[in-house]
Amino acid sequence: MSILITGGTGYIGSHTCVDFIKKGLDVIILDNLSNSRAEVVDYIEQITGIRPKFYHTDLLDREGTKKVFDENDIESVIHFAGLKAVGESVLKPVEYYRNNIVGTLNLIDEMRAHNCFKIVFSSSATVYGKPKTVPIKEDFPLSTTNPYGTTKLFIERILEDLCVADDRFSVALLRYFNPIGAHESGLIGDDPNGIPNNLMPYITRVAKGVLPHLNVFGNDYETRDGTGVRDYIHVIDLAAGHYSALKCLEEKGVHIYNLGTGRGYSVLEIIEAFERVNNVKIPYIIAPRRAGDIAECYADPSKAAYELGWKAELGLDDMCRSAWKFEQLNTRK
Ligand code: NAD
Ligand code: UFG
Repeated sequence: MSILITGGTGYIGSHTCVDFIKKGLDVIILDNLSNSRAEVVDYIEQITGIRPKFYHTDLLDREGTKKVFDENDIESVIHFAGLKAVGESVLKPVEYYRNNIVGTLNLIDEMRAHNCFKIVFSSSATVYGKPKTVPIKEDFPLSTTNPYGTTKLFIERILEDLCVADDRFSVALLRYFNPIGAHESGLIGDDPNGIPNNLMPYITRVAKGVLPHLNVFGNDYETRDGTGVRDYIHVIDLAAGHYSALKCLEEKGVHIYNLGTGRGYSVLEIIEAFERVNNVKIPYIIAPRRAGDIAECYADPSKAAYELGWKAELGLDDMCRSAWKFEQLNTRK
């Protein structure tokens, strides 16, 4: 029996493939390479010694998706594939709704047609909107502020409704906080196209001299130093969270977990840690607040600890060190 990893050549997907392969699971990757590169399959092989089967397939291509299920005995699906840039989603809402939602519906259709009823879905802390308090627990009210976030919330609802209608399904909704860092080999990591939206890939490109300075989006938030506070989680820990989540799929129905560390760092603290650990300077300027940003967002991860036995282990220094190693080895440009 195999596990299908949609979006498996992407940032979090590739680390999850490595984790699963090392734990002895048979992994199949489906990815349309819209935001990743085919070479990632080579890197996964270099790291693990095993080459996963790879389908260059778009979830919007129904025939192509069907073929993946026809040709393999897929027991469960880890569903990472999706578009994820918040700003772009505001400019291209229809493309985001089509890609993320129709892609997921096509996937569910093929799962049903092939008696596959277990799915882990990559959701996001963005579904909590602007939380009234932190740390955030899974039962906090849900809302969204952009089309990307709305696709995550809709897909959560679709999967919940599916479980009500069809009691053969088991679904894990994993709400990630802010994944950063990379595999210790430096071969795989966060490699967005164009100018990065997220903090860490922006910092690594400033460190490399590709971008002149970091814009710190606001220093007048109600936080300890005025800059935004987030729950940064090492992508290696996040990947391992998916392995732990496989356990809960033994029980039918919907299971929801925050995957975060439970501790927040400010933008200035991230810069300080990156500079100290890697001995590089990150020039920055204070820029206006970015539209839609919130002051503070960090998880209460105790449900995942209690029910899945999963806990983030790696610290900020490790995240900064591995992100920089990946950037230095990256042959993108
Ligand atoms: P990523 O862009 O690196 O990976 C997503 C992969 O999906 C890419 O390789 C892309 O080519 C592929 N893809 C997109 N649409 C597809 C389609 N229609 N068919 C086939 N493949 C398709 O992103 P990531 O950071 O690894 O994120 C993985 C998942 O986690 C996404 O669903 C994202 O929304 C979610 N998530 C990410 C973060 C984060 O900060 N990185 C936070 C919360 C949630
Ligand atoms: N920031 C800067 N300068 C930058 C980029 C970011 O100061 O160039 C700041 C932001 O204002 C924020 C913090 O760094 O305070 C983190 O910003 P990111 O863009 O890295 O992450 P967000 O918390 O805004 O959003 C991320 C993902 C979302 C996801 C959310 C919660 O991009 O998709 O985490 O999981 F929904």
